Amino acid sequence: MGAMKIFSFLAVAMVLSMSHSQAQEGNWGDESVPYTMGPEKMTKLRFYFHDIITGKNPTAVQIAQATGTNSSATMFGALMMIDDPLTEGPDPNSRLVGRAQGFYGSAGQNELALILGMSLVFTGNEKFNGSTISVLSRNPVMKTEREFAIVGGTGYFQFARGYISAKTYSLVGPNAVVEYNCTIVHPRSGLEAGKSNSSPGKSDSSSGSQISLGSNLVFVSIIAFILQ
Ligand SMILES: *[C@@H]1O[C@H](CO)[C@@H](O)[C@H](O)[C@H]1NC(C)=O
Ligand SMILES: *[C@@H]1O[C@H](CO)[C@@H](O)[C@H](O)[C@H]1NC(C)=O
Ligand SMILES: *[C@@H]1O[C@H](CO)[C@@H](O)[C@H](O)[C@H]1NC(C)=O
Repeated sequence: MGAMKIFSFLAVAMVLSMSHSQAQEGNWGDESVPYTMGPEKMTKLRFYFHDIITGKNPTAVQIAQATGTNSSATMFGALMMIDDPLTEGPDPNSRLVGRAQGFYGSAGQNELALILGMSLVFTGNEKFNGSTISVLSRNPVMKTEREFAIVGGTGYFQFARGYISAKTYSLVGPNAVVEYNCTIVHPRSGLEAGKSNSSPGKSDSSSGSQISLGSNLVFVSIIAFILQ
């Protein structure tokens, strides 16, 4: 009987370790399920972007350049990192509504064109506080009016897409103030949607392993019962 007990103990230990590795294998990618976006909303935002390169508190700094950048008429290869304030009006001292954080680089060899990669984080009101929209777009700066693609978002703007209509308001040396009109399409509020459905990437992956651990325990009990 003692040998049987040891044997059943080993069987329990083995099955438990099996269930452990099974749970680990099953955890990393959850099942794909059908998903419908549901009713969408359109949010329009209007503010001013301040890109300050000179002075004692620049908000845009050069972080890299290519060997040929200085001799290029379009500064091809120059890369800037930005943390530019977004304000309600064109006056830099008007109410701060958010910041544009990211980079832009000179990506045109024959005409001045930037590649803009940035996240706009909003802080201007409670509703949008901490939510972001992601912009990845070409920026032909010599054109007074231009358009940028909104490719995603977080918080209130989860699943966002849309565009920004941009127009240079003023240019003093290299320092620019640009008017931004954003048209953002997104499902209801991302935050509301996140509460009612489990949002992608945050789904409860532990439930699956709990079920498999539970059924393994039943299996182990049956084996232990038979062995006794
Ligand atoms: C390019 O010009 C800047 C400023 O005029 C200078 O600081 C930098 O060293 C130059 N870079 C190269 C690679 O020549
Ligand atoms: C935004 O959130 C921060 C903290 O997360 C808080 O300090 C701030 O007061 C909030 N602002 C608004 C306008 O709700
Ligand atoms: C933004 O929208 C306002 C109001 O509709 C309009 O007067 C302005 O010209 C627009 N600006 C841009 C850059 O599209």
